[in-house]
Amino acid sequence: MVEFRHITKRFPGVLALDDINIELKPGEVHVLIGENGAGKSTLMKVLSGAYKQDEGELLIDGKVVEKNSPIISSSLGIGMIYQELNLIPELSIMKNIFLGNEKKKGIFDDKKYMYQKSKEYLSMLHLDIDPNTLVKNLGVGTQQMVEIAKAISKNSKVLVLDEPTSSLTDSEIKELFSIIKMLKEKGVGMFYISHRLEELYEVGDRVTIMRDGTKVGTYDLNEIKMDEMIEKIAGRKIENLYPRNRIKHGDCVLEVKNLTGKGFENISLKVYSGEIAGLSGLVGAGRTELARAIFGIDNYTSGEIFVNGVKINKNSTGEAVKAGIGLLPEDRKIQGLALKKNIRENMVITVLSSLGKKGVVNLKKEKEVCQKYVDELEIATPTIEKLAGFLSGGTQQKVVIAKWLMANLKLFIFDEPTRGIDVGAKSEIYRLMDELVAKGAAVLMISSDLPEVLGMSDRIYVMSQGKMTGCLNHDEADQNLVLTYAYNQKEEAV
Ligand SMILES: Nc1ncnc2c1ncn2[C@@H]1O[C@H](COP(=O)(O)OP(=O)(O)OP(=O)(O)O)[C@@H](O)[C@H]1O
Ligand SMILES: [Mg+2]
Repeated sequence: MVEFRHITKRFPGVLALDDINIELKPGEVHVLIGENGAGKSTLMKVLSGAYKQDEGELLIDGKVVEKNSPIISSSLGIGMIYQELNLIPELSIMKNIFLGNEKKKGIFDDKKYMYQKSKEYLSMLHLDIDPNTLVKNLGVGTQQMVEIAKAISKNSKVLVLDEPTSSLTDSEIKELFSIIKMLKEKGVGMFYISHRLEELYEVGDRVTIMRDGTKVGTYDLNEIKMDEMIEKIAGRKIENLYPRNRIKHGDCVLEVKNLTGKGFENISLKVYSGEIAGLSGLVGAGRTELARAIFGIDNYTSGEIFVNGVKINKNSTGEAVKAGIGLLPEDRKIQGLALKKNIRENMVITVLSSLGKKGVVNLKKEKEVCQKYVDELEIATPTIEKLAGFLSGGTQQKVVIAKWLMANLKLFIFDEPTRGIDVGAKSEIYRLMDELVAKGAAVLMISSDLPEVLGMSDRIYVMSQGKMTGCLNHDEADQNLVLTYAYNQKEEAV
């Protein structure tokens, strides 16, 4: 259905794609994996006509596409769901689905038809929402589902899904997978990009591994094991993904007492110096809301927060920052990164004061520190002066993480720290987190990645539907126990 022949693509200082050859068969789910910045999204943008290759040929249905563009590729049956959501927030779901593709009745839009059809697509995805709802009023996961509905509505023969599950809940992921299976049976071919390696085996037929713009190889998913895949992605063996030197914890840094607010109820927890406390639960359990309240972004109705024994006032990020708290937000695109600033400027924002004297920034020192993090996290960029907006999706996240890791804080709140991050960089982030607590910091880590929570935490708090349902020591915790609390199937709540 699609063939990339010797595709090469360059950006200033970067060989983003280097002689790539890949084929997509009808009804095949072809998985693309590789480190952040490996070239996955760029290759898909060559297919969609958003980028033009410098060398090589793109074939669709066996025919060379001489001159590609988003309109041409769409007319040839290629549907794209981009990594960055592309919906227009101010328009309704229905308008978004039919954007540029409006059904007409004479000179007017056939609203009744489009409404009906939108409802059909949504119900296929088991979404019970009015198509007239504005997109800006939807959660990120639901927006992702609307993107999918939009792609389905075009009856695409080939569908590209670029990290579709990164912000979906477990049940939404299930829906998505059943849609993929249905499309497969209809003969739709799909490219599927994800950093969540566990799920690939569930949906994929073949996998192509990319590294630094080159193709490492294409494999049958039946024939390649997970650890082999990890080694090929990272280009090295990762012996221990979760490097922890557990130490005896020190004083209590954060104490949350009976906190109640929007999305959570009567929450108490403590995080000590030298400790990583995991906060587990299903998506929607109220963890992000709790974190935002602790950091002072949102208000709460009752309860108290203490940092190092001193009570902090509610709803003041200024006070939280002064107390030494930092929050790595879940939605990094919007909250964490200035796209028009370069990597260095983004990174040093929180440490400016410690890098210079009396407000004068020491540029040399600043560059050294940034370069160190670029190297350690393997941030794919020719220079630290590259604009953040031009980085790959996962690389942008690494920049935000580096910014927080280098800040001198007492308490780090990380909300889904490794979502969308490649497996090699994950292990580096874990190592840096371990270093932070070894130096006496405290970490509260919200994560929906169970192996990560189990591997990294000293203690694991579990929330379910806004309530704290469990607290486990790392030596007594296992996957089943955490899930039991997450689904709140234990009678005894703590
Ligand atoms: N418009 C652009 N201008 C400059 N460089 C770019 C541009 N688009 C992509 N790049 C560079 O091309 C390389 C490949 O990026 P790409 O987005 O394809 O990576 P990716 O494999 O999708 O990574 P991720 O897993 O993080 O999404 C990166 O080094 C990136 O910085
Ligand atoms: Mg990408």
